Amino acid sequence: MDEPTAERWNDVDTYLTETLVEEDGALRAAVASLATEGLPLIEVAPLNGKLLHLLARMVRAERVLEIGTLGAYSTIWLARALAASGRVVTIEAEPHNARVARHNLERAGVADRVDICIGRAADVLPTLVDEDPFDLVFIDADKESNTIYLDWAARLGRPGAVVVVDNVVRSGRVVETDAGAQVDGVRAGLAMLRDDPRFDATALQTLDRKGWDGIAIALLTDETASA
Ligand code: DHB
Ligand code: MG
Repeated sequence: MDEPTAERWNDVDTYLTETLVEEDGALRAAVASLATEGLPLIEVAPLNGKLLHLLARMVRAERVLEIGTLGAYSTIWLARALAASGRVVTIEAEPHNARVARHNLERAGVADRVDICIGRAADVLPTLVDEDPFDLVFIDADKESNTIYLDWAARLGRPGAVVVVDNVVRSGRVVETDAGAQVDGVRAGLAMLRDDPRFDATALQTLDRKGWDGIAIALLTDETASA
């Protein structure tokens, strides 16, 4: 009972999800589409999707930036937190993923609130500088680039915006200094959240149907405006 076996934490994940998360057919279909369309099965867990949704509502987000669309499962959660006049800008490097995402957003009834930008995020992000600032940024793309994405999040977010970074624990490998480029990228991102005055951050470990991982949650400080 006291050890977090996979069977136990999956039971808990199922219990919490059934208790607190209402997934409709469109969200379920978005998850199912990953397997049928050949995308990796790395969408956020339902509890995390709802967390993103609630954070967006808590900051009364009107504009959300997502880096890494995949099949738009998290995008649907975020888009449903916005008023009809709100906007999610989501960036996806793989055109096939973007097509799957578009279909899933249409089925969920939120396609009119979402702009899918197809391209490498490092190329797309500089094109967003003249748009209104974002209220929430979700970073969930190639982990090697987390510091680049955090820098853009600070530039494109308003002071007081929330920044969420997915996958900051990686089955515990985050504590290793020689675990490869992805873990190095995660660690560099966490160090930036510590050292860069534009952020104030914490992180939570998660044990759910996606295994052992975690998210960092940061607030953009008032330093953002002058940075
Ligand atoms: C991977 C990426 C993710 O964003 C995730 O949530 C899980 C795994 C990966 O690249 O392995
Ligand atoms: Mg992820």
